[in-house]
Parts: sequence; structure tokens; C-alpha cells
Amino acid sequence: MSATHQLRCTNCGARIANDAARSDFRCPDCNGLYEVIYPWSQGWSAEKTAGAEVRLPNPGGMRHLWQERKTSTMPVDQSGVWRFREMLPFMRDVERVVTLREGNTPLYEMPRCAELAGVDWLLAKHQGMNPTGSFKDTGMTAALSVAVERGFQWVACASTGNTSAAMAAYAARAGLRCIVFIPEGKIAWGKLSQSMDYGALTVQLKTDFDGCLKLLTKLVQQFPIYLLNSVNPYRLEGQKTPAMEIVEQMEWQVPEHLVVPGGNLGNSSALGKGFLEMKHLGLIQRVPKISVIQAQGANPLYRWFGDENREMKPVKAETRATAIRIGNPASWRKASRVIEETGGWCEQVNEQEIALAKAEIGAEGVGCEPASAVTLAGLKKLVAAGRVTREERVVLVLTGHTLKDPQYTIDYHKGDLLTAAEIASETEVERASHAALRKPPLVLEADEAMVLKALEERMAKANAAGTQATPGTSK
Ligand code: F0G
Repeated sequence: MSATHQLRCTNCGARIANDAARSDFRCPDCNGLYEVIYPWSQGWSAEKTAGAEVRLPNPGGMRHLWQERKTSTMPVDQSGVWRFREMLPFMRDVERVVTLREGNTPLYEMPRCAELAGVDWLLAKHQGMNPTGSFKDTGMTAALSVAVERGFQWVACASTGNTSAAMAAYAARAGLRCIVFIPEGKIAWGKLSQSMDYGALTVQLKTDFDGCLKLLTKLVQQFPIYLLNSVNPYRLEGQKTPAMEIVEQMEWQVPEHLVVPGGNLGNSSALGKGFLEMKHLGLIQRVPKISVIQAQGANPLYRWFGDENREMKPVKAETRATAIRIGNPASWRKASRVIEETGGWCEQVNEQEIALAKAEIGAEGVGCEPASAVTLAGLKKLVAAGRVTREERVVLVLTGHTLKDPQYTIDYHKGDLLTAAEIASETEVERASHAALRKPPLVLEADEAMVLKALEERMAKANAAGTQATPGTSK
């Protein structure tokens, strides 16, 4: 077995050589998913390294190196994934990585959203500020580089849109061909257009995401196509690096809570792995509680936590947050372990709560796509239940850029998003919040007097309501 890394089944613990995985990345014995482990990982057995003593990477040295690389002009150093390459040493030749300078995303302070959620200090790690507008880039640079190193010509994924956009871009950079499977009619335009722009062969199937992934899993066993969904464990190696960025951006302090949206549940698993490995290596002394938020209409993990028999029952998913419209999440075991191991929770939020939270994040000048907004909506619930206290530091992981799904935003502001039944079930406070946040465009004749009158009215109204019309805000 190679001494650089192995794959370990997260279900039965079986270990295999790094190039011995089946094309669907499932364990032949138990159908479990693999994780990448290194000689310094917990559970890497000594005899596998031929008796040589395994030395853990030096935490002080790594911190210094990561800082130094920020001023380097080398592409791998400018990448916010490969800058941390001591944490993901699986490439034989790091010069061969395919990078769009992903990562290095901002950690924004969110004072108004903090107040709305009932905490003193709230940060948003905006993974939508990646090259293709979502967190998927951090995973794609990792797994697609493996595809290149292993000589694949074709790569493929099933996607609700963001994975396909990222894969198409990185495949184009590397000169690989790629096929994306997406559910017909249930994907935001921004994402679909990206796949086409980057030259992917785009296949819209008359099924949902779960149906797309099932079909693709069969196809990769018949063709030499490298599967780039998050069942591919190298994806998660890239997606764990925002954990390093967050603590670096917080001057090596660790937040008390991390709140992540949950779809196929790869991202929460990856971030958990990142924090737990940093603790194992002595880079941090404790890990944040990692909580996963699902849309109520796509909530199999939430149900699993509530099920006394602990049985995973896939659901027929339905939510306007199309990125997380997933009923049979592949990585649910990994994610449930991360939640349990870190002491976090799984929460669900409904469509009205998602719409409100998205508008609130937008009104803070940050913006995100609907699936990312579940984090703020979920945080409000965690605070209300006493699971997050006011003085604890919380980081929301915003996974996608607001421009990914402009139709959702336009529908919201025009008042066309929610159904009458959804609106009827809102509380008075929620209704007032929506009314203050909605900003439909004024359509006017190009007449100076009419425009002036309309503006006077609007400005007087806004001034009377306070500066930024976010209810419950003093600033
Ligand atoms: N947020 C956004 C914007 C996403 O695109 C996704 C997943 C998630 C959250 C959920 O992350 O699946 O790791 O739990 N999008 C995938 C895709 C499924 O195909 O783009 P997860």
C-alpha cells in the first residue's frame, strides 16, 4: 500500500490502497463510503508504514508556512485549498493540480443578522465567493486533480446545479471532457448556464437529483468515467479547507458553533473532518459544534435524528431551495457522526423561514442563494431552543452566491414566491418583516415630475421607518 494515503470505509473500517476504490466509491463489503486517511490520521496502523514511526506534522511550522504562502505567486500557493496542502497530501505531484485560485473566501461580520437571530456576534463564511460561485470549487480542485493524475479523459457528476458548474469549469481548465446529469426543470438558471458556458455535455433527466445520481452510479461502472460527486472522498478533502481558513481568519480562535446547510451531506462531513483533524494535529484545542440545517421538504437527516429506531428513510424532496432538493443523501452517516461527535444538532426550516432569512442576508449587503439562507433560519431556531446562547460565536457557512438563482430573488421581491397558504401561515412579525424587506422595482414613465414625486414618497416612508428597513434593528 502507498505510504502517502489510504482509503478507509467509514462504515466497516476496511482500508484499501488509494487507487483500489470501485468506480462508484462504495465499499464492496458494506456499501459504505470511504474517507481519505494519511499516516498522521487517527487509526492509521503502524504496521502499514513498515514499522517507521509516524511523525505528526508540526502545527507551528504549518501555520507559519500557510501564512507565508499568501505572498507567493505560485498558483498552488494562491489557492485557498492547496495553501493548506500538508492537510491533504494525496497528490503525487502538486504541480499537476488544476486550480482556479479557489478558496480564500471572506468571513463577514453580520451585525444585523446577529441581532435578528439573538446572538451578539455572527460571522458568515461566504463560500459563494469562489470562482464559480459556490463551495463546490474547493472540492472540485481536489478531486478533478486526482482524475488528471490518474489519466482519466472523462469526468461526470449528478447535480442540483453547483457541482456541475464547478466540475464543468475545472474540467475545461484541465482539458477534460465532462458530462453533467441534472434534474429537468429543477435547477436555477445561473447554474445551468455555467455548465453550458464551460462546455459540458449537459443531460437533463426527467427525474430528481436522487434519480440522476442513481443512474450515473450505474453508468460509471460501464465506462471509464471518473465520478466527481461527493461520494468521491477527494472532494471532501478540498471541502475541509474552509475549516482551516475560518480559524486562520479568527486568529486561531475557534467559534463555538458552525451552521451548515444539508443536502447530500458531503459538506458538513468535510468541514467536520477538517476541524477534527486540526484538533488531532494540535492546531486547535477544541472543535465547534457543527449543526446541519435542512429544508423541511427535504429533511431525511432531521427525521433520522427524530426516529427512535434510527432508520434512514429517503423522502421525496420538494423545496424552492433547489440546491438542497435531495431526499436520499449519500453522506448521511458521515454527517450524522460529525453532528454527534461535535455536539451539534440537525434542524429543519420551512419555505417562509428560508425566504425571510435570504432577504435578511441580502439586506445586510452580503446575499446568498436560497439553500445557504437555511443557516440563518436554522440559527434562529437553535437560539430559540437555547442550543446556542447569545454570547457564543457563530459562523454561518453561506454556500452559494446570490446570482446563482436570481429568479427566486425576483419572485420574492415581487411577492410571487410564496403561495397564499404559506403566506396565511406566517406570524404578524414575519409578515411585517417581509413587508419591510421586499423591494420590488418601481416602473415609472420617464417623466421628471412623476419620478420626483414617487421618490419623495418612498424616501419619506423609508426615513419614517428608520434607515435600513430591517425590523428589529437599531442600526
Ligand atoms: N448549498 C448549496 C448552494 C449547494 O449547492 C449544496 C449542494 C448544498 C448547500 C448542500 O451541500 O450536498 O454537501 O450537503 N449541492 C449539490 C450540487 C448537491 O449538486 O450542486 P451538501
